Amino acid sequence: MTKTEGYLDHAIFKLVGSTARELGVRAFVIGGYVRDCFLGIPNDDIDIVVEGSGIALAEAVAAKCGAKVSVFRNFGTAMLKYKGIEVEFVGARRESYDRSSRKPVVEDGTLEEDQLRRDFTINAMAFSLQEDDFGALVDPFGGIKDLAAGIIRTPLDPEQTYSDDPLRMLRAIRFATRLGFNIVPESLDAMKRMAGRLKILSRERIVEELDKMLLTKKPSTAFRLMDQTGLLEQFFPELVRLKGTETVDGKGHKENFSHTLEVLDNVVLFEQEAGREPNLWLHWAALLHDIGKPVSKRYSPSLGWTFHGHEVVGARMVPQIFKSLKMPLNEKMKYVQKLVALHLRPIALVDDQVTDSAVRRLLFDAGEDIEDLMILCNADITSKNPAKVARLRRNFELVKEKMAEVEAKDEIRNWKNPISGDYIMELFGIEPCNTIGQLKEMVKEAILDGVIPNTFEAADAFMRERAAELGLYPHD
Ligand code: CTP
Repeated sequence: MTKTEGYLDHAIFKLVGSTARELGVRAFVIGGYVRDCFLGIPNDDIDIVVEGSGIALAEAVAAKCGAKVSVFRNFGTAMLKYKGIEVEFVGARRESYDRSSRKPVVEDGTLEEDQLRRDFTINAMAFSLQEDDFGALVDPFGGIKDLAAGIIRTPLDPEQTYSDDPLRMLRAIRFATRLGFNIVPESLDAMKRMAGRLKILSRERIVEELDKMLLTKKPSTAFRLMDQTGLLEQFFPELVRLKGTETVDGKGHKENFSHTLEVLDNVVLFEQEAGREPNLWLHWAALLHDIGKPVSKRYSPSLGWTFHGHEVVGARMVPQIFKSLKMPLNEKMKYVQKLVALHLRPIALVDDQVTDSAVRRLLFDAGEDIEDLMILCNADITSKNPAKVARLRRNFELVKEKMAEVEAKDEIRNWKNPISGDYIMELFGIEPCNTIGQLKEMVKEAILDGVIPNTFEAADAFMRERAAELGLYPHD
């Protein structure tokens, strides 16, 4: 046992230790908190394992310090909130799992039996809270060694560990990605054999892991690993379909799976460079931006490979994918859909002559999300030819400058029609009808095309002229 100082300074640890002693049980800090201590990562979630009743210990601790305790009798756990930290108590278990669900059949066990049933050696380490060896590291499976070597390994045969809870296969990949660790080959092999077991998991649990993967610094690693192990195919076949490339008449096309992952990593990087917080939904948009490509792929001898309309097809696929993953079909989904639909627009401006009106239309369509769209679009510039990337990025900067100019002048981004329906009805003394919508649309088009400036006076004069053509005149 290694003596470990400094990690258990919070008052709760001594309190749990002394209370456990009074109850005649042994208690340990275990899992993520211990791992993160050694990694130097702050963690406010503390798991305590007790050789005895976790609930009884939690209640006794709470009675002493006046903390609030929530008891989950079905799970045999209790949660206590104390001085800014959350402490979960659980009795040490010897578990065997029902193959058809993730629900364990639980029997009381010793610390070591409990550690053996945990997911990874780096998550199975414990600190003793006993008075005589307070802070001693209990690490029967070499977690500290694996942590130093950057290895994800299961304490048991991986097939057993993953069969007990298939979510752990995704957790392994998430930890490997987040920490830059390697999963041992036998574990990866077990995943390949066990991939089908993911079907017993709820989609919500899977998406929770996906979200965490998407919020790492290099999410591509996670998606590559999920692909290599066959896990991705189980719940995200649309992504797997992006894989591969075809060659006809000696002409090939971009490998869209790798490209997508490159774009995803780029988005994370660009956000960071811009000093922005990671935006999970922007990451989802990056992941799905080309999802319509396999369906839209065509070959013609004159044009080669084309993916015309893939942004429209892709945007249409977004709700289906969200639904199949049981993700909420709310404004976040609409945001992802919008970015997928618009992802080609800024880059199209790079090739064209950048007109003010094209820029205004893009600002109008993207609205509040224009900056996110620009990050996505910039991230989408990938090529094996560095000179081409550099040229496109330079031109892209010009589009951004143009955009800033137009926005400063015309304020289109949060555009509201200066002419309201009520105003038109009152001016002409008319009831609600189609003409009102038509007049408002004409004003919008005229402003976006730069025919008139974005002011009430100009819009009003323009609208009165169009109304007169329709035989409408102000009534007095
Ligand atoms: N655990 C496990 N199998 C799981 C989930 C959790 O064995 N499917 C164990 C691990 O020992 C883990 C501990 O329970 O360290 C706590 O789980 P959790 O809070 O979900 O994860 P952390 O390891 O704390 O990491 P994170 O908060 O990043 O998920």
